[in-house]
Amino acid sequence: IPVQPFDYVVFGATGDLTKRKLIPALYHRFLDGQFDEKSQIIGASRSQLSDADFQQVARDAVTQFVEKDYQDAGVIDRFVKIFSYVSIDVSKPEEAGDLGKKLREDPKIVRAFYLAVAPDLFEPIAEFLAKKKYYRRDARVVIEKPLGHDLASSVEINDGIAKIFNEDQVYRIDHYLGKETVQNLLALRFANALFEPIWNSAHIDHVQLTVSESVGAGTRGYYDESGALRDMIQNHMLQLLCLVAMEPPASDDADALRDEKLKVLRALRPITNGEVSTKTVRGQYRGVKSETAAVAGYQEELPDDKKGSRTETFVALKAEIENWRWSGVPFYMRTGKRMASRVSEICIQFKPIPHSIFDHAEGAPRPNKLIIRLQPDEGVKLMMMIKDPGPGGMRLREVPLNLSFAQQFTERTPEAYERLLLDVIRGNQTLFMRRDELEAAWRWVDPIREAWNHANEPPQPYSAGTWGPSGSIALIERDGRTWYEENL
Ligand code: BG6
Repeated sequence: IPVQPFDYVVFGATGDLTKRKLIPALYHRFLDGQFDEKSQIIGASRSQLSDADFQQVARDAVTQFVEKDYQDAGVIDRFVKIFSYVSIDVSKPEEAGDLGKKLREDPKIVRAFYLAVAPDLFEPIAEFLAKKKYYRRDARVVIEKPLGHDLASSVEINDGIAKIFNEDQVYRIDHYLGKETVQNLLALRFANALFEPIWNSAHIDHVQLTVSESVGAGTRGYYDESGALRDMIQNHMLQLLCLVAMEPPASDDADALRDEKLKVLRALRPITNGEVSTKTVRGQYRGVKSETAAVAGYQEELPDDKKGSRTETFVALKAEIENWRWSGVPFYMRTGKRMASRVSEICIQFKPIPHSIFDHAEGAPRPNKLIIRLQPDEGVKLMMMIKDPGPGGMRLREVPLNLSFAQQFTERTPEAYERLLLDVIRGNQTLFMRRDELEAAWRWVDPIREAWNHANEPPQPYSAGTWGPSGSIALIERDGRTWYEENL
């Protein structure tokens, strides 16, 4: 269904995010006919560009970042025509180009401002918009991480935006929520009757969340200031944890869902100073060299002035949720750069059977596992025990009941931003983080960082291309469990 026509103003129009993610995502939605030439995308940044220059930026972004099969010359020509540009330096409002001339006053045309800029510009931009009367009570503003580096700075950013925009106008992107398979978690839990009755501590032994990446991080300036805890755990992984752990919301209303996520975040048991050494592990990758190849370590990738950095490129954590449903069920999380492969996966491990009649059989029954693969090879797998075929007696074997999305569906899987950018136009905040959620996440994460600072220990080294430092294995094995890595 097409969305209402819109004026999307993108601040930071010439930046990387705009080219790599926003323009390709909008192109796909345009290609699918979800909006047409009645809409406008207006780039804004300090550079002096003409409309034609910015249309070229859009064209280049499509040719470079959209899959070749989807590049249609005719559609691209029509698409770039909806792009125009104004040069704006918010610190010099008197010199700014006339955005007002491009914005349409018709209330049926949705007005949205995407701030693809550093957070210290959010407040000045919001004030600029208000001052110039580009702000409307029904306008929307889209912002994205880093939304602070701790609770205090995050509050400051939110306060800055809130000076002008009400919470119902603010769309905080966590792009994981835009991923198809992440939304599928909601379908799996709340569109099937099978799982909910056993989705609790009576039946689930523990949960594992893995987001591993094979790329490195040392050449990205921002990363060294951030580290894996802030870059991945505070946002994406805690969001995943919330979707797995939350109570069923009463409806699909944005606040109904976000209220439930917030309750999970608030129920997270704080990790105290004394516990960081048993409940958390920090790692940093080191280079590996073989006769045929060499991969640089984090330190080697860093510029000279950053060498010696203790920033973690890997974190493993044991989180606990203090409520009736989850008491006694640990949620183990791990994420890192330069790991063995790129995988995002959730593994729900059920309790062992209460009594086995198969003591004399070959192969003991293993607990069921539900594995939700977010990327790549999206799918859901239920690991079950069966009898091995054949007359040779009772031999048990673990096999997957396997739903592979690629085999089941021929449709292309849309990128996260495709969904999110148009949800802004639809006025649907369900897949965006509310202020209190974001702040609750920081409230849990900050003490971990403070405890690390207090312990003052270097991150544990791990070799590039592995599953992280040995401490990560120890973290889960201390509890008599292992990381699920069968198909990684
Ligand atoms: C970003 C992080 O938010 O998410 C990156 O800043 C990370 O460090 C990326 O690589 C991972 O996203 P995806 O969609 O590739 O899993």
